[in-house]
Amino acid sequence: MKRTYISTFITGFQSVIADNLPRVVNIFSIDLLLDGLIMYQSNEEIKSIKRINFINNSFIVLKFFKDIGSLNTDSIIKNIILDKSIDYNIPELKNNRSSFRIIVSSENQLISVNKKLLNDLEIKITKNTKLRINKLKPDLEFWISIRSEGCAFFGLRFTKNPNQEKYLAKGELRPELASILCLLSEPNSDDIFLDPFCGYGSIPIQRIYISKYKTILSYDINNELINNLKSKIKNIQKSKNIKNFFVHNTDALNMKFLSDNYIDKIVTDPPWGFFEKIDNLDLFYSKMLKEFHRVVKNNGIMVLLVANSGTFDKVLEEYKSLFNVENKYTTLVSGKKTVIYKLKNIK
Ligand SMILES: C[S@@+](CC[C@H](N)C(=O)[O-])C[C@H]1O[C@@H](n2cnc3c(N)ncnc32)[C@H](O)[C@@H]1O
Repeated sequence: MKRTYISTFITGFQSVIADNLPRVVNIFSIDLLLDGLIMYQSNEEIKSIKRINFINNSFIVLKFFKDIGSLNTDSIIKNIILDKSIDYNIPELKNNRSSFRIIVSSENQLISVNKKLLNDLEIKITKNTKLRINKLKPDLEFWISIRSEGCAFFGLRFTKNPNQEKYLAKGELRPELASILCLLSEPNSDDIFLDPFCGYGSIPIQRIYISKYKTILSYDINNELINNLKSKIKNIQKSKNIKNFFVHNTDALNMKFLSDNYIDKIVTDPPWGFFEKIDNLDLFYSKMLKEFHRVVKNNGIMVLLVANSGTFDKVLEEYKSLFNVENKYTTLVSGKKTVIYKLKNIK
């Protein structure tokens, strides 16, 4: 069934999402692309969209306001209540889903709204769907989302964004971001892929899910993290056959056992230099870039997430004959500005 969907994603990656979403779901048209939001027509089933790791949340769009003009939140809600053309007949609602609540957000912040209007909309949804209201632990959420760009939508969210902080270890990258970083490396079934600062393994784990590869190498200097990743992989092995995935305790600045030109892609999140003590970050980046240049093939791709881009830019400038800067993306990680560099190796 062809429907309008909206998916949200991490700020800064419009082009990556617009290029890659049509590769994993059947899309008839992309109707809107904003920073952090894509609206598209697709006949894909909800369950296929739910499986995409590089987007945050997805919604079935029930009504879209292209330009809210002078409409305030109350008028938008009234408009939704009065609109007889909204189709609440969503087959998936019948799959044991019985309760809902309404969430209203403006510019990505949840807001409280006129109780009477909210109640009228709840009654309308109940009449049309036979769902019950449950404000604390609902099965479903209807969202009214008002954007800073002057548009708004009313939709049914069908992904639950778990409270990531609860599940992620300190310093572990969100799977959506790790997945986007892997996409930037132009994944290929012949890839010999390396994350030399793998930490909890979010990047190499996402690489497994993106597409076929030849080999994935995950290194870290911290043995505890290496053992942790080995047991995570064992767990994933129970439901997914993982081949050629190697985890080693190694110093990324000196990967002696890797021969020159062995690696096709490096995707990594090097130490930030804020939380762990690095005496000389310039020297660290300098050794890192030299070692990456040695082990990566000519034209091989490196995607590096860098929190201290001032220092990194300075060091990269010294090695400008060794790397082509293909692209730079700016985003926020844990509220901190970070830059993602896509480099190509020149030999
Ligand atoms: C920013 S964290 C990576 C976090 C990882 N992306 C994740 O999602 O868990 C940087 C990692 O680099 C590791 N590290 C620091 N110096 C290293 C070195 N010389 N060689 C290899 N790993 C190193 C740290 O132990 C840490 O796990």
